[in-house]
Amino acid sequence: MQVTFCRLRTHQWCFILFNVILFHALLFGADFVEEYFLRSLPHVDIKILEIKNKARKLNMESVKSNLSKYYVLSQPEACNGKTIFLLSLIFSSPENGTRRELIRKTWGSVTSVQGYPILTLFALGMPALLTTQEEIDIESQKNNDIIEGIFLDSSENQTLKVISMTQWAVAFCPNALFILKVDEEMFVNLPGLVDYLLSLKEHLEGIYVGRVIHQDIPNRDPHSQEFVPLSEYPEKYYPDYCSGEAFIMSQDVAQMVYVVSNEASIMVPADVFVGICAKLVGLIPIHSSRFSGERHIVYNRCCYKFIFTSSEATDAETSLAWREMNDGKKCSLFETYYGLISCKLLTYLNSFRRFRVGTVQGSAVHFGE
Ligand SMILES: *[C@@H]1O[C@H](CO)[C@@H](O)[C@H](O)[C@H]1NC(C)=O
Ligand SMILES: *[C@@H]1O[C@H](CO)[C@@H](O)[C@H](O)[C@H]1NC(C)=O
Ligand SMILES: *[C@@H]1O[C@H](CO)[C@@H](O)[C@H](O)[C@H]1NC(C)=O
Repeated sequence: MQVTFCRLRTHQWCFILFNVILFHALLFGADFVEEYFLRSLPHVDIKILEIKNKARKLNMESVKSNLSKYYVLSQPEACNGKTIFLLSLIFSSPENGTRRELIRKTWGSVTSVQGYPILTLFALGMPALLTTQEEIDIESQKNNDIIEGIFLDSSENQTLKVISMTQWAVAFCPNALFILKVDEEMFVNLPGLVDYLLSLKEHLEGIYVGRVIHQDIPNRDPHSQEFVPLSEYPEKYYPDYCSGEAFIMSQDVAQMVYVVSNEASIMVPADVFVGICAKLVGLIPIHSSRFSGERHIVYNRCCYKFIFTSSEATDAETSLAWREMNDGKKCSLFETYYGLISCKLLTYLNSFRRFRVGTVQGSAVHFGE
């Protein structure tokens, strides 16, 4: 009887309803499907148990007593005697003091969420120029928030940087429950992230979460800068890993990754490296579509209060987002809903436009040759 009712009296409504459902399914469906399928059970064998044991008994005294061998600037006291829920390590380039200053004034200034303490530090390698080092020294004396590893901060050395900073976190901040690795060009919604971590309540261990990249293929083009030779990584696919722009590890995961870091090749991208280490210790990354990965999410206040990160955040947008998100105005359910639809749609349109511009430029280069 209801079917008749629908067909005769309100078939237009049914049609509209159908379209609305289809629209939502297309827009959000992929996120749900991804999150469902990427959740599987970790596997455990004797080697993994041994690694876990080794990680638990990890002794970092030799790093601590030979500090100058590993770090130019090491902030050994930064975590001492504090309770730290989240250690946020912002991977910054040595030359980018202005960006660091902006982050200190905006999203990086959050020191606690709902009473859970957050510590924000900047992770650097060495600059190519001595004058830059002098500037960093002054910046570090003023802010006490810079860790600088002993390696040249180049794009090829980013895997070294991740290892060096994981070592730092394990040695000098074992009291941090979670560690966020994030790039300086990101906007981060720390309150949202902490909320999410708190929702994992029963699982404060074994957490490796971010935007999971599934079945990524190593770059086998010998002319490319990111070339990965078969001898370094023979398999066809990389294991699932969290996209490197922003991801979180719990302290035990950081310890295990550090313990196995000499077993994996450093000739792979930094985020893949962490994924390979995680696989070696039997961990499966947890996917959340609220991490943007490399995508820039078009700004909308209520959308930004829901998502965790957005890539390629310009200085102006970072300031605007920070100001508007802290103006005390709450987002109603409807505003959040509308915000998500709007920022998702615009982000899709943007990536489509960029894809087209990319292909056009690609062919232009091709014609130029
Ligand atoms: C670090 O320093 C200790 C002494 O505190 C020394 O015994 C050890 O060999 C050093 N380790 C490295 C790797 O240099
Ligand atoms: C990586 O860092 C090391 C140590 O500073 C340096 O010798 C090497 O040249 C760097 N590699 C690249 C490709 O920049
Ligand atoms: C500094 O950071 C900005 C914003 O992320 C980025 O666009 C720029 O390329 C960086 N500059 C250097 C020298 O790394």
